[in-house]
Amino acid sequence: SLKACLFDLDGVIVDTAQYHYIAWRETAQSLGFDLTHAQNELLKGISRMESLDIILAIGNVELDLETKVQLATVKNFRYLELCQQMTPDDVLPGVREFMDSLRSAGIKMGLGSASKNAETILKRIEMLDYLEIIVDGNRITKGKPDPEIFLMGAEDLDVLPEECVVFEDAVAGVQAAKAGGMKAIGVGDPTILTEADFVISTFKSLDLKVIQQLFFAA
Ligand code: G6P
Ligand code: MG
Repeated sequence: SLKACLFDLDGVIVDTAQYHYIAWRETAQSLGFDLTHAQNELLKGISRMESLDIILAIGNVELDLETKVQLATVKNFRYLELCQQMTPDDVLPGVREFMDSLRSAGIKMGLGSASKNAETILKRIEMLDYLEIIVDGNRITKGKPDPEIFLMGAEDLDVLPEECVVFEDAVAGVQAAKAGGMKAIGVGDPTILTEADFVISTFKSLDLKVIQQLFFAA
């Protein structure tokens, strides 16, 4: 039966992709090239340093580690500065209501995000209290699509992978959930999240009963 839900943060609970994009675009421009919206899509669910490597490859730029760390640090300062505009109103439609329904049903909730800023963001949007456990970029050694992040989450919540449903907006995140033996619900475009067991465009119309019927019917 369904015992726990694991949530990605960026693009699932709140739309931070726009701020990541602004900050990374400034990094690219400082190096003399542009970063398109489509290219930014490739960075969803990918760690900070891996994202920088992808951006540098796009611009055909090679840098030493020290310079890369410096660029990533500057990007993160800018990202956090942009995030200060966020308020609890920025929680994506239906997320709070859905989490309330999980809480009432006694289903555990945890976070599985590659971000090292996850707690800061959750506090800003006043969502920290919903999550019993947090597995973030500070804890993992292998990024998505490796299942480590979600397996750690299941273990922290003391449930089995097959008792978990993961909510993800990134292809790499859906792959991580599936590799961990969990059900994956994609949040976004079904033509992109083809490996997900089910795709929703928003949490607004999502009923817990639907999930139970889809994946856990006897
Ligand atoms: C999430 C986002 C990525 C971001 C990563 C690391 O997975 O989707 O775009 O690069 O977190 O975030 P951080 O806040 O640690 O730079
Ligand atoms: Mg995401």
